[in-house]
Amino acid sequence: MEQRLILLATLWFCACGGTPRNHLARVTPRDEMRASSEVAGAEQSAVGNPFVGAEFFVNPEYSMKVEAAASEYPAQASEIRKVAAVPTAIWLDSVKSTQSVSNVLQAAEKKADRAKPTLTVFVLYNLPNRDCSAKASGGELTVENGGEERYRREFIDKIAEQFSNFPHQRLIAVLEPDSLPNLATNMNLPKCAQSDLVYRRSIAYAISKLSMPHVSLYMDAAHAGWLGWDGNRTKIAQIFKDVLVMAGGTNKIRGFSTNVSNFNTLSSAEGKRLGPSNPCPDELSYVKRLSENLRRVGIEGKQFIIDTARNGLAVRASWGNWCNIKGAGLGERPQAAPAPLVDAYYWIKPPGESDGVSDASQPRYDQACASPDSSPNAPQAGQWFPAYFSGLVRNAHPSL
Ligand code: BGC
Repeated sequence: MEQRLILLATLWFCACGGTPRNHLARVTPRDEMRASSEVAGAEQSAVGNPFVGAEFFVNPEYSMKVEAAASEYPAQASEIRKVAAVPTAIWLDSVKSTQSVSNVLQAAEKKADRAKPTLTVFVLYNLPNRDCSAKASGGELTVENGGEERYRREFIDKIAEQFSNFPHQRLIAVLEPDSLPNLATNMNLPKCAQSDLVYRRSIAYAISKLSMPHVSLYMDAAHAGWLGWDGNRTKIAQIFKDVLVMAGGTNKIRGFSTNVSNFNTLSSAEGKRLGPSNPCPDELSYVKRLSENLRRVGIEGKQFIIDTARNGLAVRASWGNWCNIKGAGLGERPQAAPAPLVDAYYWIKPPGESDGVSDASQPRYDQACASPDSSPNAPQAGQWFPAYFSGLVRNAHPSL
């Protein structure tokens, strides 16, 4: 997973207009059916914060890795065991990974305390040309290998089918971290320029397909250290608007995710040091200002999820460094409605999973993962990195 600070944040790129609009030329019975399910989806986004009153799903596979770390680091075992009980998001990052959705939801069903609905957070992360501005998290689908069609049929349709079988659970889908933000600031890179329309159409498809009464959708809005500057917020708001129009309307989504896999703090001290010219030195001021930009383009009433998995303590030389940051600590535990505009703080990046490999001889090596701010000996993105996990636990804030 790639997070990218754009130092040229104030540079303006082309306003990539001309996005297709949805036109229903003629209403057939099929269209009517679709229209009524769309209304149901839209109503869902208006019912309120899905995190309130729900029991968050604790991923048993994550807990097992954490338990193993408790044996590996006996001096920290009691703190580590507390982490085993913390809910984390489930990443769907390949076609194959979609096979796990039903199992996860069946496990959630079994655990469900009948008094409370279960809530599971999924991250959908498999766009064609994924991670277009970096190397660490490139995926299996590309524009050249027919990835756009495969994304729809083999990824989104499969997820939608399984989601529809569990209508009594609350499901959250965080859509494609970093993708649309890359279109706001990285169109100078050929891979991002090539991905422009494909990203937009694919995300619009995901939104319209996954729009169901029990599914709350959040589009990814990167983070304060990337899009906090006025020009970038203006650009991303317009991109969101275009994609939502393509998807069938702004009321299809519940809101936006921020700070996914990044390290930005919730309060401003560290951010002011890193980016003195940034009007959004932290995630809470970012969501506030971004809401204003969204309102200006007609996207109103949206809420946010902030990834607090690793933002308890982050001391970096540069905001542009995003890979396995040394000295980072676990952040606020997942919780509903912690602040104005925020539906939840959640552990979206499972802490202890790597951001990218640090060995230059390996595939998907990105030099950002060998920056002076990055921990050495890191495995491939998504792989378990026990020494890093131990550091996150040691630096947890609030403490465990
Ligand atoms: C990786 C994914 C992984 C996710 C969660 C990303 O950086 O590219 O494969 O699932 O992190 O750890």
